[in-house]
Amino acid sequence: MKIIVVTNQKGGVGRTTTAVNLAHGLALRSRRVLLIDLDPRGHCALALGSEPQPGVYRLLGANQPLRDVLRPSGRPYLVLLPSDKRTRTAQIVLLSEGRLSRGLWLNALWPLAWRDLDYCVIDATHVLSALQEAALYAADVLIIPASCDYLSIEPVGEMLDIFQTINSEGSTCQLLGILPTFYDDQTRESKMILAQLSADFGEYGILPPIHRATVFRECPARGKTIFEYAPESRAAREYADLATRVEDLCSKFETNREKAMRLGSAASHRKDITDRLRRITGTLADPSAQRTAPLGLPTTTPLRTGDK
Ligand SMILES: Nc1ncnc2c1ncn2[C@@H]1O[C@H](COP(=O)(O)OP(=O)(O)OP(=O)(O)O)[C@@H](O)[C@H]1O
Ligand SMILES: [Mg+2]
Repeated sequence: MKIIVVTNQKGGVGRTTTAVNLAHGLALRSRRVLLIDLDPRGHCALALGSEPQPGVYRLLGANQPLRDVLRPSGRPYLVLLPSDKRTRTAQIVLLSEGRLSRGLWLNALWPLAWRDLDYCVIDATHVLSALQEAALYAADVLIIPASCDYLSIEPVGEMLDIFQTINSEGSTCQLLGILPTFYDDQTRESKMILAQLSADFGEYGILPPIHRATVFRECPARGKTIFEYAPESRAAREYADLATRVEDLCSKFETNREKAMRLGSAASHRKDITDRLRRITGTLADPSAQRTAPLGLPTTTPLRTGDK
């Protein structure tokens, strides 16, 4: 299983739209996908036509088994770990019990998800809380959506700083690229921002833009993904292409964990998780243990390069 985190510290950039449609796009290719919502507003559930629920809280705050808190999405191959306002409480509980760690998600997804899923797509909100930070440390692949407006350029730079920081601290996360969203080829502003993103961050990879389209606004109101609401639209094609890119990138690298699973070696599978946790926590963390090293980074303020 590869963990894909969709994140940007700026709000309203199309993060949930990207996470939900990417997750469904992969599921439509018969990949087994878990969509994790870290937004206390529960937007992923709403976008899929269901109600926000305290899935993240029950998993992390109340220690319920992962298999008990996952919810069917009503779509083949796609399950949801939903969120609601109690996701904030989960973080408080984890903090008070000393269970917040960089290995949080690797621990939480152990062992069920690794065996039963191909992808885990995480919709991380724009507030960099400890839950989001731990998601970044767990990520195999990062996608940074950036709306095509002037104010979105600086937050992309901040996200790239964070990406470099976590990789310098032992993560092996790959950047799929910056995903321009709300692109309107009729406006000079969109063209200018795309050119600016390419000039400033081209070395990190600029993905083909997702165009601004009214159908995207209509989807959550109907509780449908773009593939259900407007399957023949350009908007659907753009997210299908994104799913293809994710698959292409992910097929190019195999984590040691996946190799162990392919070879059917439970022992080396377990060792890989342990090694990975050790790399990101700097401790001899055991995936089955409740406690790993604390994050050691500010949990309420954004993490920037240089923050250690
Ligand atoms: N390419 C697009 N064209 C037009 N509307 C879009 C597009 N992408 C997303 N939207 C709409 O813009 C709004 C914000 O999108 P979305 O919720 O995906 O952003 P977000 O980054 O998750 O926001 P938040 O910071 O509130 O979590 C939603 O109403 C969504 O339907
Ligand atoms: Mg959102």
